[in-house]
Amino acid sequence: MENNKVHILDHPLIRHKLAIIRNKETDTKQFREIIKEIATLMAYESFKDVPTQEIEVETPLEKVKQTVVKENSIAIVPILRAGLGMVDGILSLFPAAKVGHIGLYRNEETLEPEEYYCKLPVGIEEKVVMVVDPMLATGGSAADAIKMLKKRGCKKIKLLSIIAAPEGVKKVADEHPDVDIFISTLDRCLNEHGYILPGLGDAGDRIFGTK
Ligand code: PRP
Ligand code: URA
Repeated sequence: MENNKVHILDHPLIRHKLAIIRNKETDTKQFREIIKEIATLMAYESFKDVPTQEIEVETPLEKVKQTVVKENSIAIVPILRAGLGMVDGILSLFPAAKVGHIGLYRNEETLEPEEYYCKLPVGIEEKVVMVVDPMLATGGSAADAIKMLKKRGCKKIKLLSIIAAPEGVKKVADEHPDVDIFISTLDRCLNEHGYILPGLGDAGDRIFGTK
């Protein structure tokens, strides 16, 4: 595993919010809000190298050259379903970003990801692509989503996951050493059902209130 590609975005504000979403008593409304807020905080840090361009603006006093985010340079790709919960938080910083969707669900017996949907923005190959999914467990879903994006021609891919297990980080880093992985916490391990410990349970179900 190439450790230099794994960034743990540890910050007291994020830790505070993690405590809320880990709590089994947190309801759907608050869970959804906090996932969105953590995504915003993580996007702020993980897009430090966002492509920029220089423009000239005129202040009330004089003209000045100013760096702005390069137009059409970013795509966000949530892994359905749970990744959807992070999209609005990132769009609050990058409102012009294009959004693609990759639908994968884990087969509950094999824990292997199964693809059911893929719709990506035209021209995604030229953009910085941020794959988002709150949970990086075995890493199967993220590794597959990244493989699909590479097949499509994407060259600059990042992964943003809120909670990761060591197994998942290792899988993605081994299979995709060129991809920067951003997480906010590295949890202990997976249980026998592939759930992250201590984790927060099933992120999709908690975001959408399906259980
Ligand atoms: C969850 C989660 C990830 C995946 C992580 O999705 O949102 O996509 O599992 O597990 P992995 O790293 O072992 O692949 P799930 O398959 O439960 O689908 P859902 O988001 O529709 O609930
Ligand atoms: N998917 C989840 O939603 N939670 C886990 O702990 C593992 C996979």
